[in-house]
Amino acid sequence: MSGRAADTVAALAALQQEAERAIRSAGGRDDLQRLKTEYLGRKAGRVTAILRELPGLEPDDRRLVGQQANAAKAAIERLLEEADAALAERARGAAGADLTMPSRAVWRGAKHPVTLVVDRVTAIFAELGFTRYVGPEVETERNNFTALNFPPDHPALDMHDTLYLGEGVVLRTHTSPLQIRVMEAYPPPIRVLMPGMCYRRDPFDAAHAPVFSQVEGLAVDEGISFVDLKASLTHFARRFFAPGVMVRFRPSFFPFTEPSAEMDVQCQVCGGPGCPTCKYTGWSEIMGCGMVDPAVFEAVGVDPERYTGWAFGMGPARMAQQLYGIPDIRAEYEADMRLHDQLVDAT
Ligand code: PHE
Repeated sequence: MSGRAADTVAALAALQQEAERAIRSAGGRDDLQRLKTEYLGRKAGRVTAILRELPGLEPDDRRLVGQQANAAKAAIERLLEEADAALAERARGAAGADLTMPSRAVWRGAKHPVTLVVDRVTAIFAELGFTRYVGPEVETERNNFTALNFPPDHPALDMHDTLYLGEGVVLRTHTSPLQIRVMEAYPPPIRVLMPGMCYRRDPFDAAHAPVFSQVEGLAVDEGISFVDLKASLTHFARRFFAPGVMVRFRPSFFPFTEPSAEMDVQCQVCGGPGCPTCKYTGWSEIMGCGMVDPAVFEAVGVDPERYTGWAFGMGPARMAQQLYGIPDIRAEYEADMRLHDQLVDAT
């Protein structure tokens, strides 16, 4: 190999090394484009310039240097491609992690107004020492009616109100059978809250639904009186709605309580003067309540001479209407998420 050819081979090797370093430290795809022109450009490329000198060499040297130059050119081309692909990949990765990009909002669902009410009721009664108990929706006729002192000819036993699943087996028509279950499982003192779904063979209209939720409450101890009932439930209503809310107790009748009452709150939808929701009475009934009838204590084996108690059953759907000002109860049975999204968890 001539001295000139040897110099050219050395220059090629140096040029390749230089190009490799430059490509590795390129900061962007623009730099790579510039380097490609600098080394491989057809007019002024530095490797191209060496290839252009080949015709001036001896034929043997020409072949050798030519091979070297083509290998250097191929190596630089490959490096440029790899570097370009890596930079493109990095650009995509950076875009994916762009912290200034607005995120897509994920709708995480909302609690049903009845669930919000039950949670709130549970929390308030927990402050008063009430624990929570749940039981089956399929009940015996005995727990749902007989042990609760319903006379055999009571209209609620009629096929028109009660959904029978078989002989002596019903879908519970209220949560009161849970009173029976609790008193048969635990000795007094008892303070328990029992939420659940109930079923009645009712038409679906503005005031009725065949499936609805109730929250039952029961307190059994020595020396409990109607004063405890009134004070506890009034305290509850003021914690649930607002400190100054007006309540009233109206005499009523339930087979399993004596005396019995219904508790109304000042209509929260209109604030008192009257509206379609409170049927222009200014009041909304939110629960039935009363002192546990001694006949119920006898049915579950609690001594009525020693113990007294009070119980209530409230309607969370009606209470949600009052708490959130929902004029038509049917809105609670339609899954219109615009309603659910508006409600604030007030527990
Ligand atoms: N179970 C009654 C009803 O469904 C409500 C109630 C419960 C009344 C407890 C008194 C005591 O209407």
